[in-house]
Amino acid sequence: MDAKYILGIPEIDAQHEELHELVNSLREVITRKDQRHLVHQALKRLHQLLVTHFAYEEAFMKMIGYADLPQHKKTHKGVLNIFENYFDHPPEPGDYEILGKMITDKVLGHVMEHDVKMTEVAKAHMKTNSAPRGRKQKT
Ligand SMILES: [Fe+2]
Ligand SMILES: [Fe+2]
Repeated sequence: MDAKYILGIPEIDAQHEELHELVNSLREVITRKDQRHLVHQALKRLHQLLVTHFAYEEAFMKMIGYADLPQHKKTHKGVLNIFENYFDHPPEPGDYEILGKMITDKVLGHVMEHDVKMTEVAKAHMKTNSAPRGRKQKT
């Protein structure tokens, strides 16, 4: 995964790494005509991982008191909606490339725009909470 995507929150970084690998394998099966039969399975796996990842992130944001949590949740929902639309109305194989690009852009865009913003708040939170507070200095 590109260094610019690394947020510095180990659990979330590990999940993003796994997501990137799945997005890459999805791209691969979409572009190779002989592997088109694997698209549905690849989308199912990516969808499952995203559901788990988003739940983790949302619990994390709640824990740190992230003010933009409702907005971030909407973004997550928007990404999941693409998958749900696909599962409800699977496109013709000829439209897989459009679908693949949309998913790739949304999943990677989610990391760049929204998670990076959340990270700044998380880092400030961790800094504040790791510093001793309310204790009197020894004299
Ligand atoms: Fe994320
Ligand atoms: Fe997120």
